[in-house]
Amino acid sequence: GRATEGEVTWQSPSNIALVKYWGKLDNQIPANPSISFTLNNCRTTTTLRYSKKEKAATDFDFELYFEKEKKESFKPKIQKFFERTFEYLPFLKDYKFTIETSNSFPHSSGIASSASGMSALALCLMSLEKELDPTMDNEFFTKKASFLARLGSGSACRSIEGELVVWGENEEIKGSSNLFGLKYPYAVLEVFQNYQDTILLVDKGEKQVSSTVGHSLMEEHPYAERRFAQAHENLGKLKQILKKGDLEEFIKVVESEALTLHAMMMTSQPYFLLMKPNTLAIIEKIFRFRKETGSHLCFTLDAGANVHVLYPEKEKEEVLQFIKTELAQHCDKGQFIEDHTGMGAKKL
Ligand code: PMV
Repeated sequence: GRATEGEVTWQSPSNIALVKYWGKLDNQIPANPSISFTLNNCRTTTTLRYSKKEKAATDFDFELYFEKEKKESFKPKIQKFFERTFEYLPFLKDYKFTIETSNSFPHSSGIASSASGMSALALCLMSLEKELDPTMDNEFFTKKASFLARLGSGSACRSIEGELVVWGENEEIKGSSNLFGLKYPYAVLEVFQNYQDTILLVDKGEKQVSSTVGHSLMEEHPYAERRFAQAHENLGKLKQILKKGDLEEFIKVVESEALTLHAMMMTSQPYFLLMKPNTLAIIEKIFRFRKETGSHLCFTLDAGANVHVLYPEKEKEEVLQFIKTELAQHCDKGQFIEDHTGMGAKKL
């Protein structure tokens, strides 16, 4: 019969949000819309091996290898992912799976691999579904891959395509959905193409706050409603900015979003302070450099101390020089990762 055994490999990138997703409802529905740049170099490669069982089992049957080592500690996350997606992938209990995964970026770099990892696995499972149903069209494949990725980790639904993806319903973005990421449907000025993201590794430790805990902090948050409304407003502003190419305005929205994300964590109960002294030192130097040179670099942050430095491709030389001479000294072992926007996941 069809797809009795085989393997498939997908490579999927990380992404960096410009308007942040922070807060969710049941079933991985975001409390506000978000938009991100899909990255290119920070990737997870996942191979899914599958073999059909004689008889469907009562539970999921899978083994996990991370960078060639068997990883029991990742199993609960994948188990949960299978539980959430079983409804949409009814064949999951019919197979024995071996999942092999590796990252292009150094592990324990403080770079979240949930977006790249969950999207890569979702894509592998979609390839298996397509084996079972070869008539499936590409649009359905991509949408459902994003839908499934979302059930693994919300932001993962924004990693399937590039270079810009919107997730979450918003009146001004036609076709936007809470259920999957939508490739940004409007023309974007050239200055935003191949946008650069240099990731400064300030703190390579384990995350202090898991994103599950982080999102739940928005449930009883005193500023939640205003924040969710602000995300809609910022997405609207960004839509104009992407059309007109106003870099000054881009910087204002992106940096404010990063600081607001951290402000939400600082004002929740319990509260968290995720920036480090080096995070602030870097931000202050960015402000100063911008003032002194008129450069258009800006920063953004995820739920941690690392800093993403964003800038147009045509400013690459000056900004990289500045990063190497001024910012790298604030990084753990001087380490940073050079990345830029990309087109999304690839089947190998
Ligand atoms: O996808 P999660 O549940 O790990 O949440 C990610 C949240 C942020 O990275 C902080 C913001 C975002 O929109 O990516």
